[in-house]
Amino acid sequence: MNKFDVGILLRFAKACVVFIIFLFGFYIVLPTTFQYTFSYIRLIVTMVYNDEQRHEVEEKLSWQQEFYLQEMEMLFNQQICAKRQHPHLNVAWLTAMMNDNYAVGAIYLAYVIKKLSCHHKMIALVSDGVTKKSQDALKKAGYEVRNVEPLDCDWMDRRKGNIERHLGLPGTHMRFHAWNYTEYDSIVYLDPDVMPLNNIDELFWLDAEMAASYCARPGILDPCFNAGLLMFKPSSKSYNEIMNMWSHLSTGTNCPNDQVLLWHYYADNNKWLPLPYAYNVRRYLYHPMKVYHFACCLTKKPWKMPQPTDIELQTFKGPLTEPNEVVLLWWKHFKDALVYFELNNWYEEIKNTI
Ligand SMILES: *[C@@H]1O[C@H](CO)[C@@H](O)[C@H](O)[C@H]1NC(C)=O
Repeated sequence: MNKFDVGILLRFAKACVVFIIFLFGFYIVLPTTFQYTFSYIRLIVTMVYNDEQRHEVEEKLSWQQEFYLQEMEMLFNQQICAKRQHPHLNVAWLTAMMNDNYAVGAIYLAYVIKKLSCHHKMIALVSDGVTKKSQDALKKAGYEVRNVEPLDCDWMDRRKGNIERHLGLPGTHMRFHAWNYTEYDSIVYLDPDVMPLNNIDELFWLDAEMAASYCARPGILDPCFNAGLLMFKPSSKSYNEIMNMWSHLSTGTNCPNDQVLLWHYYADNNKWLPLPYAYNVRRYLYHPMKVYHFACCLTKKPWKMPQPTDIELQTFKGPLTEPNEVVLLWWKHFKDALVYFELNNWYEEIKNTI
């Protein structure tokens, strides 16, 4: 040990002795204050140590509140709607599908819209891939069913006199038809695998040509929007411009999908209003969550997941903390929807074909 180290050690020992004498003196002169100070310091240390756990407890509490709010809205929102004043605009919900598989999602949507929203005009765009019985089921659930041409890359290639190269997914661009539905002031489009958890009518009144959520949650840089939920203002001008843009960009080997086209049309021209991520939560759970979207990967579409038992459905009291619980909630509402719309027979008939 060299001289320098010994010096430090001595000084430290002296400091300790002085501190102990100080504590002792403190204890003798002010015993109550001493005890109080001691327990106060212990509390501070515990708080710092448990800080992460405290965050988790608060978070869980707000998730539970979110779940209760969702349950309350399902039960009582129509009463709230009856007392509300609404702007005098013609608005509609829109969804689109190519087959019976997605019709199942659309029936779910119709039910939650009926319960949560103050606006019950719903339009379903269907191609002839949707069977007559499922089209009837959609009508029974309150949709105006519009049979439209399935717009997709092959459709565009035929129109341009190109060879059909089967690029992209069949019917992907079908919703573009609705841009020409100028009898509506505002339309909110939802993919049939989107699951609204709250009233989201505020989307109709946004002062923007188009609104959609960021692709990713705050803290993640992913400059795009997800078009699974979007609000747009129908206009023949926009309709023609989007269709022309699509035609223009569909050259030879390329066929941009609908989301990419909408991105170029709205975002590139500064006409996109970004919505909070809460309106289109995908892939993992994020709170606040107003809408969950069963997009790619985390689970299969909820209607392709095993149906939970009645006991599971009845005993689940939230909060939504993992993907399987969101599936559970989907089934709870879907089973109610089948009873409410008297569609149990329809579902029994089609469930093995999807
Ligand atoms: C768009 O709507 C107008 C009337 O609202 C109609 O005349 C026109 O044919 C429609 N365009 C297409 C391509 O459907």
